[in-house]
Amino acid sequence: MIQLSNGYKFDIACASGALAYGLGWWWERYGLIPLGVIDPSQYTIITKTLTFEPRKGNLRWYWPWGCVRLLPGGNTVNAVGLTNPGFAWWKNRGYRDNVVKTGRNTIVSIMPATLVEAIVMGQYLKRQKIKGIEINVSCVNSDHPTGIDEIVKIVETVSKHSQHPVGIKLGATDPYTVITEKLQETIEWVDLINTMPWKSVYPNQQSPLEHLGGGGVSGPDIRLEARKALGDIVRLGIRTPVLSGGGIDCYEEMKLRFDMGAGAVAVGTLILRRPDLATKMITQWRAEHQYNILEHEEKLGWLAFHFRGNRDEEYRRNIALEYAEVVRKLARSGKWELIPTFEDQLPHEYMPS
Ligand SMILES: Cc1cc2nc3c(=O)[nH]c(=O)nc-3n(C[C@H](O)[C@H](O)[C@H](O)COP(=O)(O)O)c2cc1C
Repeated sequence: MIQLSNGYKFDIACASGALAYGLGWWWERYGLIPLGVIDPSQYTIITKTLTFEPRKGNLRWYWPWGCVRLLPGGNTVNAVGLTNPGFAWWKNRGYRDNVVKTGRNTIVSIMPATLVEAIVMGQYLKRQKIKGIEINVSCVNSDHPTGIDEIVKIVETVSKHSQHPVGIKLGATDPYTVITEKLQETIEWVDLINTMPWKSVYPNQQSPLEHLGGGGVSGPDIRLEARKALGDIVRLGIRTPVLSGGGIDCYEEMKLRFDMGAGAVAVGTLILRRPDLATKMITQWRAEHQYNILEHEEKLGWLAFHFRGNRDEEYRRNIALEYAEVVRKLARSGKWELIPTFEDQLPHEYMPS
């Protein structure tokens, strides 16, 4: 669970691009969502990335497959190239239609190209009731700020002017540990990883989107890189929570990311390719998570009962250690609201601080 400084908590995000700006792409908005195949309330929605000026890119709403191709094994390659209607649209209409009218929990993804754009975008977003801002500096299909100092400055500027919690989205080939460490005091999450350049995933094959630069690959074939990136941040002890995405296509993969130390997970291609499986996976996760909370709460009572029934000091110390571990797990879940009743507690001096 990632808990932001504004109190908002989330465990599962819809990766940028999977539900457009929140309402969904036309087949989602008018088909899959009303039919109940996708339930947007299951996700914290990260919008498709907005640039300051509108960008034509390669995506045409009537023919999305011109720059998005499905690959075998559940993978996708896209060369959308950041097609988007620009920030003025979001300010005047997009926010109202996608967030105000739907009440969906939304993180806005932006890519300011200059410090001035970062200031203006930050100041406008300040007035909007969103959960946070994600700064995308890792799109493989378009130009974006690349220098470490430039990225750090842009992120700091958005954070200062918007006052919303801010996160950054990086790719497997970015110096993500260095950037995350430099921004530790500013960002509240790091989203790892974005799509990977075709050539780095399939060096010996030609991309079906060669004419558009090859495109970025998402889906199961990038999951080893996604796990590595998450592992690197955790191993170095960097405190910034990781929003781990890239190749999450089943329950086991999602669970693995949480077990590896992810604060939350992001699901992208699976929503586009098998939205039914994404819904099922999350429903199962939530059901199990809820159950675990009950199970852990019951365990506190069981441990307290056995503590009281034994006077041996070493036995009691071991019980207290286990009790502290269960409390830690419950606290980490972010969903634990009940303080144990008096009889489920240990004597004061044995309670975890
Ligand atoms: C069609 C498409 C459009 C995307 N658009 C964006 C975008 O605008 N901004 C962004 O940060 N990531 C974008 N992504 C990348 C996804 O958010 C995600 O990081 C990536 O697909 C890896 O996750 P996955 O394997 O679960 O799909 C896009 C991906 C796809 C397939």
